[in-house]
Formats: sequence, C-alpha cells, structure tokens
Amino acid sequence: GSGRLVDRYGRTAVDLRVSLTDRCNLRCTYCMPAEGLAWLPRQEILTDDEIVRLVGLAVTRLGVTQVRFTGGEPLLRPALADIVARTTALEPRPRVSLTTNAIGLKRMAPALREAGLDRVNISLDTLDPARFKTLAHRDRLNDTVEGIAAAKAAGLVPVKVNSVLMRGVNEDEAVPLLRFALEHGYELRFIEQMPLDAQHGWSRENMVTAEEILTQLRTTFNLTPDPVPRGAAPAETWLIDGGPAKVGVIGSVTRPFCGDCDRTRLTADGQVRACLFSTTETDLRAMLRGDASDEDIAEAWRKTMWAKLPGHAIDDETFLQPPRPMSAIGG
Ligand code: GTP
Ligand code: 5AD
Ligand code: SF4
Repeated sequence: GSGRLVDRYGRTAVDLRVSLTDRCNLRCTYCMPAEGLAWLPRQEILTDDEIVRLVGLAVTRLGVTQVRFTGGEPLLRPALADIVARTTALEPRPRVSLTTNAIGLKRMAPALREAGLDRVNISLDTLDPARFKTLAHRDRLNDTVEGIAAAKAAGLVPVKVNSVLMRGVNEDEAVPLLRFALEHGYELRFIEQMPLDAQHGWSRENMVTAEEILTQLRTTFNLTPDPVPRGAAPAETWLIDGGPAKVGVIGSVTRPFCGDCDRTRLTADGQVRACLFSTTETDLRAMLRGDASDEDIAEAWRKTMWAKLPGHAIDDETFLQPPRPMSAIGG
C-alpha cells in the first residue's frame, strides 16, 4: 500500500507520540514504583539520528501532521532541543509539542521555543508540597510550578496542565487546581486514571471519574459545554462562566474516545504501537539498523496501524494491562 496510516475501522493516525526516554526524575504512584524500573539498555534506545529519520518518514510518507515528544520525562533527553529543531524543519512542518513534568523547563523553555516547539502539556496533580512529595516521591513542587510559568513566559502556549485525581490522595483538589490554572491562564484538564502503572495497582473503585470531577467543579463554577467540537481530542471541554476560560476532562475510562483516535506511537527503543493498550509492537529499530529503506519502514508502520484494535477494552472481563507501563510507552 501507499499513503496514510489508516486502520480497518476507518480511523487515520495523524498524531505521532514519540517517547524519548523511559526514565523520569519523578515517581508518580500511578506510573512508577518508588524504586524506579529496570531502564532500557542504552544501546536499545534510538539515537537522535534514528528518531529524526523515523519522524521524518512519518511526516513525509505517512501523513503525520503533529508530533508530541513524551517520556518518561522528555526533558531528560540531552539533545531534545536539537531533535525539536530537526522536526520543525521538516516539510510540511508538523506541529510539535511536549508532555513533561516541567522540572528543568525554567532553564530550557527559551531554547525549546527557539527550536520551534509550539506548546507544552504539563503534569501537576497537587498544589500542596507535602502531598507532591507523597505522590511523586520527590520534593519538587516548586520546580514544576516555576517550569509551568516559564513555559508561558517563553510563548509555549496554550499551556495545558494535566491533573490525575486519586481517591484519598488529592481528590479534594479539583477546585483549587482550577482556581490556580485560571489565575495564571493555563488550560487545566483532569484525567481519569488508567490501568497503566508498573505496579498494577489500578482499581476501578479508586479511580475518580469524569462525573465525580464535574460534580466537584460545579459546586464552585458554572460550566457549559464548549461549542467547539471535540474532534479527535481526548478532552471534553467546558466553558467557565460562559468563557473564554475553559476546563477539560479526559474520561479515558468512562467516556472513551477510541472511536475517534488519531494516534500512533513510537517507543524510545523504536517499537511502533497502534494504541496505548496494544499488546503487540512492531520493531522498527531492527529495520533501521538493518538495510531497510524508508519505504520498507513506512510499509511496516502502515501494516501495524491497519491492525489497530477498535478500543482499549478496559471494561472487558478478559482485559489485560499491556506489558509496558505508561513510562515506557509514552503518555
Ligand atoms: P492535546 O489535547 O493535543 O494537547 O494532547 P493530549 O491531551 O492528547 O496530550 P497529553 O500528552 O497531555 O495527554 C493527556 C492525557 O490524555 C494522557 O494522560 C492520557 O490520560 C490521555 N491520552 C493520551 N493519549 C491517549 C490515548 O491514545 N488513549 C487514551 N485512552 N488516552 C490517552
Ligand atoms: N492514567 C492516566 N494518566 C496517566 N498519566 C501517567 N500515568 C497515567 C495513568 N495511569 C498522565 C500524566 C501525564 C500524561 C502524559 O499521562 O499525568 O500528564
Ligand atoms: Fe514521570 Fe510522567 Fe510517570 Fe510521573 S507520570 S513518573 S512525571 S513519566
């Protein structure tokens, strides 16, 4: 075949999410155990040139129009700014964004902007320093808050902030987090926790649902549905007091958007995944390091996406978590 990344259910993937490392400087409980994980061996991680080759062929041969760099923590990748610059130099120029915990962004935001980075999404689950330490196993709230401000100051806008609420941990923070975001002009999205943690500690009872989050927010804010259609975006958005400020809720579990999914994923060790929850991957690294042509690789990528499953099946009795945790897939 030729052309774009289509699947048998009629979806087209135009949004490429690239994990640049499986390492992270935090240990958020919904993602990683406190002691960390067995990191990918260095020789298995794609080099900068290998990443740029794959992203390049995705843009030029497969119709990818948006590239998001994730991790683990993408700011830990030494050549991040260079990878971004080489990605924004592609024709046609893709939109380029980052999903990060913002630690170190205070220092790096201007160079990333200079490299052509369009915007950033930042994880922030609590505004309480002691809770941050419990939740992420590191005492870094201040670095994150300063990093978010630096992103906005550098023009990496709109700055989106992602919060995962957890029962008995930070479930009472929906309103304070939204006040904080409104005060600073960030776009806040609450995310339902998904079964992707390395410890397999997810339970439906402990998941704070989209419905519960909206109920909490409505105690304080007047929410009306955003008239702008959601499209393939994971967040449903609401206008606050008629707008223009908004808040989003990503109900991945109770309000799945799989039917409109436009994503394809590349892991730091060069495996293509059709879905966050895929249990199979295609090894593009072996092709890169063999003598495969760009078109051979593009064709293997198309085949992988053609086989994309219709949805995540978290509700099925037979559901099994993918072998890789979120930190090694890319958020
Ligand atoms: P924009 O709306 O374009 O800024 O991006 P995004 O919301 O897709 O990106 P981000 O990296 O901020 O992801 C936010 C959350 O969306 C993640 O924490 C996930 O919970 C969820 N998410 C992202 N991709 C997928 C996906 O493919 N499937 C599901 N079920 N959830 C996803
Ligand atoms: N469920 C939902 N969101 C998660 N994230 C990390 N692990 C999970 C999970 N198990 C979020 C982070 C980050 C984004 C990339 O994914 O908070 O904002
Ligand atoms: Fe790190 Fe992100 Fe996982 Fe938290 S969610 S431990 S910031 S990779």
